[in-house]
Amino acid sequence: MAPKPETLAAFEAAKGFMPLDEGLALHAAAEEAARLGLPLIEIGTYCGRSTILLADAARGAGVTAVTVDHHRGSEEQQPGWEYHDPEVVDPEVGRMDTLPAFRRALHAAGLEEHVVAVVGRSPQVAALWAAPVGLVFIDGGHTDEHATGDYEGWAPHLAPGGALVIHDVFADPADGGQAPYRVYRRALESGAFTEVSATRSLHVLRRTGRGV
Ligand SMILES: C[S@@+](CC[C@H](N)C(=O)[O-])C[C@H]1O[C@@H](n2cnc3c(N)ncnc32)[C@H](O)[C@@H]1O
Repeated sequence: MAPKPETLAAFEAAKGFMPLDEGLALHAAAEEAARLGLPLIEIGTYCGRSTILLADAARGAGVTAVTVDHHRGSEEQQPGWEYHDPEVVDPEVGRMDTLPAFRRALHAAGLEEHVVAVVGRSPQVAALWAAPVGLVFIDGGHTDEHATGDYEGWAPHLAPGGALVIHDVFADPADGGQAPYRVYRRALESGAFTEVSATRSLHVLRRTGRGV
């Protein structure tokens, strides 16, 4: 079921990098994965735009969305880079802090109680994680180091039938960075995943085998 108009309005109002069509594909994948009755994991909260959609799917199924971010921004979001937003710099600290905007966005969406936000580095959090999960959405750092760390840290926790969703997958280097694409290829070549759908750069895979 598509998100309600008020959820979509909160999504559109939130800062972030998720276009509507890809967001709806993420929401559909999350709704299906949530039927497993397991948590939905997001790597890369930023200001909560995609989190709102995961949280809406989690609410519908009575599960929890867990979103992980250190909230200091990725490389390309730092001052002087293409995706920098000066409004999310903490003037006292002099560094990015997207946590306040995230909290405001989630509150505006009325979805706070369906989300656990973890402030930390993805590999560090993954190393502490032990439970099976229904969905892993990789939208964190887009370097090879970070994208690979997200895959290696979180994909092994996916239950059979769970969804691996990867954002910013570009086969052609002219369209964007290649790290998410390399992770996507690696997942398919592992034999543990089958592709379910692709909506522009957002690819949904299902765990159908072992050996991630
Ligand atoms: C592209 S943004 C996420 C966009 C968001 N999903 C949306 O819909 O707008 C990437 C986020 O990943 C976070 N990030 C990058 N590397 C990380 C890491 N190693 N651990 C945790 N968060 C990380 C950054 O702080 C940034 O907020």
